[in-house]
Amino acid sequence: PPHGVNPANASLDRVRVDSGGQRLTTNQGVPVADNQNSLKVGLRGPTAMEDFILREKLTHFDHERIPERVVHARGSAAHGYFESYGDLSDITRAAPFAAAGKRTPVFVRFSTVAGERGSADTVRDVRGFAVKFYTDEGNWDLVGNNIPVFFIQDAMKFPDLVHAVKPEPHNGMPQAASAHDTFWDFVTLMPESTHMLMWHLSDRAIPRSLRTMQGFGVHTFRLVNAEGASVFCKFHWNPLAGTHSLMWDEAAKICGADADFHRRDLWEAIEAGAYPEWELGLQIFTEEEAERFPFDVLDPTKLVPEELVPVRVVGKMTLNRNPDNFFAETEQVAFCTAHVVPGIDFSNDPLLQGRIHSYLDTQISRLGGANFHEIPVNASLAPVHNNQRDGMHRQAIARGRVAYEPNSLGGGCPFQAGMAGFTTAASSRPQPPEDKVRGKPELFADHYSQARLFWISQSPAEQAHIVNAYRFELSRVQTPAIRVRLLSMLANVDPILAEGVAQGLGLEVPPPMPLATDAEQPHYDPSPALSLLAR
Ligand code: HEM
Repeated sequence: PPHGVNPANASLDRVRVDSGGQRLTTNQGVPVADNQNSLKVGLRGPTAMEDFILREKLTHFDHERIPERVVHARGSAAHGYFESYGDLSDITRAAPFAAAGKRTPVFVRFSTVAGERGSADTVRDVRGFAVKFYTDEGNWDLVGNNIPVFFIQDAMKFPDLVHAVKPEPHNGMPQAASAHDTFWDFVTLMPESTHMLMWHLSDRAIPRSLRTMQGFGVHTFRLVNAEGASVFCKFHWNPLAGTHSLMWDEAAKICGADADFHRRDLWEAIEAGAYPEWELGLQIFTEEEAERFPFDVLDPTKLVPEELVPVRVVGKMTLNRNPDNFFAETEQVAFCTAHVVPGIDFSNDPLLQGRIHSYLDTQISRLGGANFHEIPVNASLAPVHNNQRDGMHRQAIARGRVAYEPNSLGGGCPFQAGMAGFTTAASSRPQPPEDKVRGKPELFADHYSQARLFWISQSPAEQAHIVNAYRFELSRVQTPAIRVRLLSMLANVDPILAEGVAQGLGLEVPPPMPLATDAEQPHYDPSPALSLLAR
C-alpha cells in the first residue's frame, strides 16, 4: 500500500499470539502436565496449599473482569485505515491529510450509550462512533456519535444527564436508554435537550447496521496549518452504503431474537470481505463567518446547516480487519478527546472542554493506573519519548540515569519539538480580556429553532415515526406532570407534532414552555434566529 502502511495495523503483530499446538504452561512458562486434576493429599484427601498451578489458574480467573465504561459500555470494533483524497496542508498540518493517497491506520469502536456491557444492540439510543487514527505524529481520537448534536451545553451537567439516563439506582432498570421517568424528568427540565430529543426519537436512534450510520464529531473543532492559521471545522462520517434505519417494531423484535444483531453484522461483513466504508467530510468556516450565524458554534446542541456551510469530502475510511481478541482490543481501547495531533485543535465549546478532562481520568480507574497508553491497541505508532516514569504495570524499560530536565548528566534526554501549528491556534480575532464567569452566551438560549428545522426536514413517514416514538416512550412514564412538561416543550417545536403526541397520550396540548427558562438569559429574543430558520 502507499506510504508503506499496512491497513490492518501490522504493528500489533508483535503481540499477536497463537497458542494452537503449543505446550500448555503457567504464566511463568512452566509446563503443565495435568490441567484436569488439582494436587491432593491422597485421592480423597484435601487439596494441597502448594498447588501453585491450581492457585495461579483460579487467581487469574478471579481477576478477569475490569469495570465496564461508565457510559458506552456496549460496543463493537474493527481495524482499518483512512485514506486522504488530497493534500490539505493549506488548512491543516495534521499528518493524515498530508498527501493524496496517504493511508493512516485506524481502530474504530461503535457503541450504545446507556445499556450495560451485555445489553441488546437494537435499542433506541445514541450510538458512539469513536475513531483512533494512529498518525505519524501520534494518536488522534475523533470521539463522536451518530447524531450531530448533544443533550446538554455544558460539561457541568453531564453526570446529571447520565444519572438520569442510566438504569434507575433502586432497581437497575431499564437497560434501554429512554423509556423511564428519570430520563424524561431530567430532559423536560432541561429544554436545551429539545433538539437532541428530536433526533433521539427519530429513526436515527435505531440504525439498521453499524455500517449504515453517519458519524459526527459534534463539537466545533479547529484546523491549524503550518503557519499557525486556523479555521473552524465540523467532522462528518458518511457511510458509502447509505444511512439506513430499522423500523421500531423490527428493532423491538430483533432485541429479543438476537441481542448481538449489530455486532454480528459488522463482524460477518468484515469476515466476508464486504468492508464497510465511510467518507470523511469537513464543514470549514472562519470565525468571522461563525459570528454571522444565527446560533453559537460553541453550542453543541446546534449543528451548522449544510445550506450555510457545505460538507467537503476529504477522504475515505475502510474497516478491513476484525479484532483478534475482544477484551484486548475492543474492551481495552481508550479513546480520549484530549488526543489531538499537530494541526487539530479544540474550540471553547464548554462541553468539549469538560470531555478533555474526563476520558483520561476515567481510564485511570477503568484500566488500572497511568500506563494504559502502553496497552498495544492504545500504543502510538509514532515513537514515545518523555521523562514520565514508573506507575503500575509499566512496560517500557527506560535506559539511562536521568528522568528530568534540564539536566547536565544524561545523554538520553528527549528534547522539545518546538513545532509550529501544534495546538497553538490563537484566535484570529482580538479577544478583549474577560472576567471569570459562570453562565452562557445569549444564543445558547434558543432551544427550539433547530429542533423545528429537524422536524420540518423529515418526510411524513419519518414524522409519523417520531410522533409514535414519543407516544410509546411517554406512555411508559409513570409521572403525569412529566408528560405534560414534554408536551409544553414540543409545543415550541411544532403544533402538529405536539398535537400528535398529545392525542396518543389522551391529553390536551398545554401552553408552550417559556422560551428562556434560564434566569441568566432574561433578555434573549429568539425572533432573528427563528426568522432565519423559519419554515
Ligand atoms: C465514552 C465522558 C460527552 C462520545 C465516555 C466515557 C466517559 C465519557 C467517561 C467512558 C470512556 C472510557 O471508559 O474509556 C463524557 C463527558 C461528556 C461526554 C464528561 C460531556 C461533558 C460525549 C459526547 C460525545 C461522546 C458529546 C459525542 C460527540 C463518547 C463515545 C464514547 C464515550 C463515542 C465511547 C468511546 C469508546 O468506544 O470507548 N464518555 N462524554 N461523549 N463518549 Fe463521552
